[in-house]
Amino acid sequence: MTEPVEDQSGLYTFSVLTLSDKGSRGERDDTSGRMLCDLLQSLGYVLREYVILPDTHEEIVRCLRNWTEDKPVDLVLTTGGTGVAPTDVTPEATLEVVERLVPGIAEAMRQASLLKTPNAILSRGVAGIRGQTLIINLPGSEKAARENIEAVLPALPHGLYKLKGGAADCGVPPESVTRSE
Ligand code: MTE
Repeated sequence: MTEPVEDQSGLYTFSVLTLSDKGSRGERDDTSGRMLCDLLQSLGYVLREYVILPDTHEEIVRCLRNWTEDKPVDLVLTTGGTGVAPTDVTPEATLEVVERLVPGIAEAMRQASLLKTPNAILSRGVAGIRGQTLIINLPGSEKAARENIEAVLPALPHGLYKLKGGAADCGVPPESVTRSE
């Protein structure tokens, strides 16, 4: 019988944090954050929180700490503030919060993005783990956020499963893993 792994069936929680000075003042429609909410929900992930904050280091750190303590969410997607503008501080705030990096996630996103635009190298986004939460930085435009998250979506269920202590062998493809009931 296959090991019961309900969370490989997509029952993970996620939260979306949009970093945008204009968006936080209501001066820009946050199509990226809403796209991420819709996309992940369509795949079976359960939305916990969706917040828009300005590009402020302290506020980002506070929010990420909040979401990863007490009742930690499984996955946090941030969008925006990864570039090289003086106001872009999302990677630094994320690095202050995470305990372990997952470099392959950012590497895969930039590799896939380079096939779309040479500007891909300008995203400094990082991915890392705090406690039982995986945090992934995505660029700010809806197009860029979609192209980046799509590059890593296939590996997320297995990664979140292992992050939560799942013991199933890595060689077992998710399709062959079924619920016990
Ligand atoms: N990645 C993909 N796949 N597609 C894009 O259009 N835009 C780039 C880059 N990554 C882009 C992308 C651009 S123009 C910038 S400035 C950086 O992401 C950083 O974006 P951010 O500052 O909005 O986070």
